This record gives sequence, C-alpha cells and structure tokens, in this order.
Amino acid sequence: MTEMNPQTTARLTPDDEERASHVVDDFRATVGRPALHLVRAPGRVNLLGEHTDYNGLPVLPMAIDRSVLTAVAPRADRTIRLFNSAPQFAPRAYELGDTIEPYADGDWGNYSKAAAQGLVRHCGAQLRRGADLLINGNIPSSAGLSSSSALVVANALALLAANDIEVPYDTLAELLPLAERYVGTLSGGMDQATSLLARAGHALRIDFFPLRVRTLPLPPGYSVVVCHSLVQAEKSGAAKQAYNLRVIECRLACRVLENALGASLPRSLHTLGDLVALFPHRPLLDFLPHLAAQVPERSLSLTEIATLIGTSPERLREECGAVGDAFALLRRTRHVLTEAERVERAEAALNAGDAVAFGQLMDASHGSCRDDYEISCPEIEELVGIAKEAGAVGARLTGAGFGGCTVNLVAEADVPGFLTRIDRYFYRSRLAHSERVSNYRFIFKPQAGAAVFPL
Ligand code: GLA
Repeated sequence: MTEMNPQTTARLTPDDEERASHVVDDFRATVGRPALHLVRAPGRVNLLGEHTDYNGLPVLPMAIDRSVLTAVAPRADRTIRLFNSAPQFAPRAYELGDTIEPYADGDWGNYSKAAAQGLVRHCGAQLRRGADLLINGNIPSSAGLSSSSALVVANALALLAANDIEVPYDTLAELLPLAERYVGTLSGGMDQATSLLARAGHALRIDFFPLRVRTLPLPPGYSVVVCHSLVQAEKSGAAKQAYNLRVIECRLACRVLENALGASLPRSLHTLGDLVALFPHRPLLDFLPHLAAQVPERSLSLTEIATLIGTSPERLREECGAVGDAFALLRRTRHVLTEAERVERAEAALNAGDAVAFGQLMDASHGSCRDDYEISCPEIEELVGIAKEAGAVGARLTGAGFGGCTVNLVAEADVPGFLTRIDRYFYRSRLAHSERVSNYRFIFKPQAGAAVFPL
C-alpha cells in the first residue's frame, strides 16, 4: 500500500500490515462492499512536559507502535456508520449535520462525533458524504497513551478521505484538540499533534499557540519502556474532573499573576505560557515569587481568590464551572513553570545525546507531577520505585496521570533485567496466570505520524 499524504513517509509496520489486512477483510464482510482507504493514527507516549500543553508551554512526546486502524468507504447519504472489531464497542450510526448531538457520556461513538463536528465547522458544505468505518485499535485504553485522540484523528482522516477533502496535517493538529473538547475534557493539543505530525525514529518538541514541531534524537543505546500501572485513568470519568480542575487552577493562577504584575503586563494572560512571549528576556521561574507573594502553599477557596483579584465569587464561578472549591494555585504553577524549564533543558540533553541528564529531568518531572501537580497514585509510585531500583536512568508517570502508565529510559543492555524485576515485583502478584505481561509493558520505538493509504 502507498500512502496519500505527502507530509509523512509513513509505512505500515509489519504488525500493522497484518492487522490492516484483517481490518480490510472485516470491512468487506461487515459492510458488504470494499473499503477505499485505510487510515492509521498512532498513540503517543509523552517523555517530558506534562500538563504544559494547555498552558501554551512545550511538550516532548513521541508516537508509538500502537495505533488505530480504520477502513473507510463513502456513502451516498449523510449517515456515518461505525463498526469496531472489539465486541465491547457496539456499532453506532449518526447523521452529519451542523449540530451533532453527543451520545451519553463515555460512549465510544462520541470520539467520532467530535471529529465530525469539528470538520463540519471547518469544511462546511464540502463535507457532505457520509461513510462506513471499520475501526481496530490496539492502544491500551485509559492508559495515558492517547487511544482517544488517535481515534479522533483516525475518524477525521477517514471522513476527509471519504469526502475527497485535503486538510493539511498541521491545520488538523490545531483544529482537532478543540474538536475533542466535544467529549468534555479541556485537553491541550499534544496528543493530536503527535499522532498527526510525528516522525519515525524521533521524539518531538511541540510548542503551541501557534503550533510548532521540532524533531529530536533519542539517546542512542537506550530504550523507551512503558509500564501500565493497571489503574484505568478513564478520560470520561473521575480523571476528567481532576484534569479539568488542573486546567481551571492554571487559568486562575493567570488571573492572580495579572493582578500581581499590574501595569508591567502589556496585556492579559490567557495562559501561563503567554509570559514567555510577553517577557522574552526573563526566565519563567522569575514569576513564581510574584505569585508566592500573593498566595500561600495551601489551596484557596473561590471566595479567597475573588477577594484577592477584586472580583465577585459568582463571576469567577461562572468562568470556572462546577469544579469544587479548593484551588492549589502556587503548587500547580510551580509544576507548570519548572516543567517548561525542564523541557528546555531536556531538548539540549537530547541534542547532546546525554541520556543521564535526560533521565534526571524525567525523575525531577515525576517528583513535580506527584508533589505539586498531584496526579500520581500509589501504583504509579510503586512502579517508579521498582524502575529506579531496576536501573532506569529516568522513570516517571506519563500522560494526564491519575493512573495509566509510567515511561522509563533504560540502557538497552539493562532492558532484560529491568523487565524481569518489573514483572517479578509489580505484575506477578497482580496478573492472573492466563494474562500475558506483554499486554501491559512495552518497548516502544518512535513511529511516524498518521497516514491515509488508498486501497
Ligand atoms: C492528556 C491531554 C493532553 C495533555 C496531557 C498531560 O493526555 O489530552 O493534552 O494535557 O494529558 O500532559
């Protein structure tokens, strides 16, 4: 199969080839006619830069060898029919229209509707044909590896292919994060940008608003090992609330900083990252004392924050929505600003091939995610502890947190011993004999971004 998008040199991996031929056969058997395109959209693992993307600060992810494959053929009407090779995802059908109403919270079909709604807004009447889609994903779900964003990307590319519309991938990478807010998470743009724009053999540094991507080498002689904590971080459940609370805390921190910086601030702060553009010659960490002078370490109530910035709690409540009444502004900001600094240093470490320096930054990121951003959990802590004892040069949680996976940088020669220890001390007591540990911990090689293959 050859690929259609000129922006990537993607080819299917041998594993994908086999899945792809099943997907294409299943499509014909299920839909009763052949598919015309096959789409591949990879998941991602974030190496560094956690919860920085929606703050307009950089991230450092790579695409992984797990993906969503989708076979697609256009329809004569405006119906989108979704089939999934996994039986737990029952078929869905909906109509393309100006306003596409969501299914119930947590329904897998909402990720397709999110893509469709976003494309309808972007492409208007050009997007007129419905389509049949058969979807097969092998990215572990609720694991912090972006299975949902890969699903959104795959759906978007499939609908565009069915309608013969070309939208540049970097445009999609800006459009689809907003589209994915359809499912109610206030996510940033890392996942979709990685799935679309990744380069084989490389990590990426991604900056936001506007989107910019640079490729970076991984340290030669080291492997990226990802371990599932077996705690599901459901994007539609409690993790969604906890994630959205972090986004709101960062927005509130901007309001307090605006107040603290007063006339020295040329315009309002939409994100903490705006500080970089507004004060290009000042290190980001310079701004922490300004915030620390205003707020204590402990969490504040909305009333306290409103008093601080001279507004009414009701007005703030309208802006924040129902996300509780405890906001840890100083600790969250400390994480975000120090994490952005770490990404800067990590880029230099990767360019210098300095695995040890990169690993130290991963470890520091983990501590900050745990203590200041409070997104770890006991199982992740246990995994990180075992990983360090087993010789990982860097070990940290990855993705939104609240469960999901750890990512570890391990010297290639140490990988077998590392896996033995992780299996013995973490998985052995937790997995049934019949379960394969290879379904829970992975050695990932950086893959290319999404591609559309005409069949
Ligand atoms: C989720 C979101 C991303 C990003 C990470 C945390 O994966 O979808 O946008 O915020 O969490 O770094």
